[in-house]
Amino acid sequence: MSQSSRLAEPMVRLTRRQFLWGMGGGMGAAAVPLSRTAYHGYQINRLASQPRSFALSSLEPSLAERAAAKGLIYGAATQHHLLANDPEFAEAVLRECQMLVTENDLQWNQVHPDPERFDFAAADGLAEFAQMHQLLLRGHNLVWHNSLPDWFKTTATPQTARQILVNHIQTVVGRYAGRMHSWDVVNEALLPADGRADGLRQTPWLELIGTDYIELAFRTAAEADPAALLVYNDFELDYDRPQDQAKRMALLRLLERLKQRDVPIQAIGMQAHLWGGETRFNAAKLSSWLEQVASLGLKILVTELDVTDQPLPQDLAIRDQIVAGAYADYLAVLLEQPAVIAVLTWGLSDRYSWLAEFAPRSDSAAVRPLPLDQHLQRKLAWQAIAQAFDQAPVRTKQSATSGAATSP
Ligand code: XIL
Repeated sequence: MSQSSRLAEPMVRLTRRQFLWGMGGGMGAAAVPLSRTAYHGYQINRLASQPRSFALSSLEPSLAERAAAKGLIYGAATQHHLLANDPEFAEAVLRECQMLVTENDLQWNQVHPDPERFDFAAADGLAEFAQMHQLLLRGHNLVWHNSLPDWFKTTATPQTARQILVNHIQTVVGRYAGRMHSWDVVNEALLPADGRADGLRQTPWLELIGTDYIELAFRTAAEADPAALLVYNDFELDYDRPQDQAKRMALLRLLERLKQRDVPIQAIGMQAHLWGGETRFNAAKLSSWLEQVASLGLKILVTELDVTDQPLPQDLAIRDQIVAGAYADYLAVLLEQPAVIAVLTWGLSDRYSWLAEFAPRSDSAAVRPLPLDQHLQRKLAWQAIAQAFDQAPVRTKQSATSGAATSP
């Protein structure tokens, strides 16, 4: 799956020589080109040597309460079977979250296992849990190249694809109509590296339907649930790297096209799968891009926030410090932008993170990308997020908790 390759950045194995090169900028060694790995190692050492304080006067209240105090939503992606089988974890979710995101339970391959059959057991379970505890619910996702079931490959043709897409969206969105805060309608449709002028990713949907599959998906979703906020969601929008820069530009063009054509899209989702130790972060650039998105009348959600610790040293204190720093730097920029209405992490506790599988550490140490540790205790990353909420400006009246009905 593409996520694994994009997370497969080189491991940092810093030899003493590389480290000295990295440190040797002013000593003549700068003439030797620094490899990416060595440079990265140098940055990690630099971050590790500059500890920051994420101290709070108290570990109470929860993330949800701190966010709500600013008119923001905090929540996390999770799966019904986790809530059903791990009561301790369910309790932690209830303590920290105002919103639940369907991590897997509404993916095509889970919910639409056969051409004529839908299986809503898990998603219904999650929706009931949310309703019972008065949590907001967010659906992920309606169109993605990655989660397509096997039957799709043999059944979908240029003649049938439109109908398959429309039928899926009508059925799935229709079932939860009135109960969803928002939907990721189209996920990861851009990949400038695929070489198209419009930056669209080569996907089965694009091949079978053509470029207007995106518009078709949004229009169908809006008809099936006029109250839900409809979102375009993507990754690699965060850093000052060529691939992020290209995708930010392509996304702006896509959003402009959709708005010109009156397509019912109300927000974008920044997945924000961040990299511990990545220093190519340009606050000014990111913030002016967010402003451009906002000026199209769109809301912005941080939809899948986590920080991989794959490239970081094993030392727990250093690792947690750098991960917390990544949360702090990113959220400081995002939360300054009034169009940002929600922060959702991709999981809540290190007990359950997709990164254990997709970005494991070479030393086999357990990954620590999320706000709570394996034992559901609040850790430094939690404090960094809490602090970011505490420092965020208050959103104005137009409540972040309402969906499309009140968006501009
Ligand atoms: C991941 C899930 O967390 C995994 O459980 C699943 O097997 C693979 O996908 N971008 C997305 C999410 O939009 O759906 C991905 O989630 C993470 C990257």
